[in-house]
Amino acid sequence: MILSIESSCDDSSIAVTDIATRQLLYHKKISQELEHARYGGVVPELASRLHVEALPKILEETRRYFAQLKAIAVTNEPGLSVTLVEGVMMAKALSIALQIPLLGVNHLKGHIYSLFIEKKAVFPLTVLLVSGGHTQVMEVRGLNAMKTVARTLDDSFGESFDKVAKMMHLGYPGGPIIEALAKNGDPFCYNFTVPLHQSPQIAFSYSGLKNAVRIAIEEGSETDYANIAASFQRVATAHLLQKLKKYFKQHPPQCFAIVGGASANGYLREEIEEILKPYGAKLLLSELQYCADNAAMIGRVAIEMYEAGAWSSIENLHVNAKSTL
Ligand code: KG4
Ligand code: ZN
Repeated sequence: MILSIESSCDDSSIAVTDIATRQLLYHKKISQELEHARYGGVVPELASRLHVEALPKILEETRRYFAQLKAIAVTNEPGLSVTLVEGVMMAKALSIALQIPLLGVNHLKGHIYSLFIEKKAVFPLTVLLVSGGHTQVMEVRGLNAMKTVARTLDDSFGESFDKVAKMMHLGYPGGPIIEALAKNGDPFCYNFTVPLHQSPQIAFSYSGLKNAVRIAIEEGSETDYANIAASFQRVATAHLLQKLKKYFKQHPPQCFAIVGGASANGYLREEIEEILKPYGAKLLLSELQYCADNAAMIGRVAIEMYEAGAWSSIENLHVNAKSTL
């Protein structure tokens, strides 16, 4: 079995996975959403202190597996450095105490393998990763064959939902809040400009849209919020769709996946399904419970790394907050 630890942002999570069967034997996550909600976003120093309380509490529950563990896996990149260190410290301590090897897991690979929890991995895949920290398109052929073909120039898709919810004083995380609010609004009420629509570049940008929404919020009243949310969600998604369609013209998709916290968005899922139809491409999605950050997806990557012998050591396992794929 492998014990995996995730603490790259505001979720403390530990999982235990059976190596041979890929079965998830234990999985728990303590989210810090309530604590960060009053600030409208994650406060890194507060997140770090909360991991110190939550991670050992979860670890206590996994004692019964200790004798059967073959490796300790931990997210070591990318993420908030002050929260990544919490998981890495715990992993190194466990590795020393139990005398078993370490596996350093890339968080973005974790999101991709969230598609394959308790399943066999299938490639090649074109992947849209939409989370709080990332918005990128990747061509994935395997664990060590991932190429980013488009990324955001500024904010990420999920982050833009967080910022819109913050401007409306609706709490954190903004994604589910804005998606729910949008259900009561008219998506065509506000004609926000689709970002980069005149640019031939296949890249993403959310800072301009965020500013347009800020002006609408300032000029309107609370009664306009549902219409603003629905219009924002339509345009934020239209931007992804426009750039994907452009990309598909050169690189027709066969198997496409959406991963990351924001891949839980129902409107986005439906719209992507539509643009895949002309290609007869298959759409892969993670189970809703595994879209947002969790240790089960880290454990799933760790099985592949274990089988490939991709070990880390106490000396060479570093935190790399800004690493990219
Ligand atoms: O993957 P994740 O848990 O953390 C990062 O790796 O960043 O993603 C969290 C992000 C947050 O920005 C959150 O607002 C967004 O995913 N999110 C959503 C939805 N659910 C979560 N964004 C849009 N619609 C949703 N339903
Ligand atoms: Zn994530």
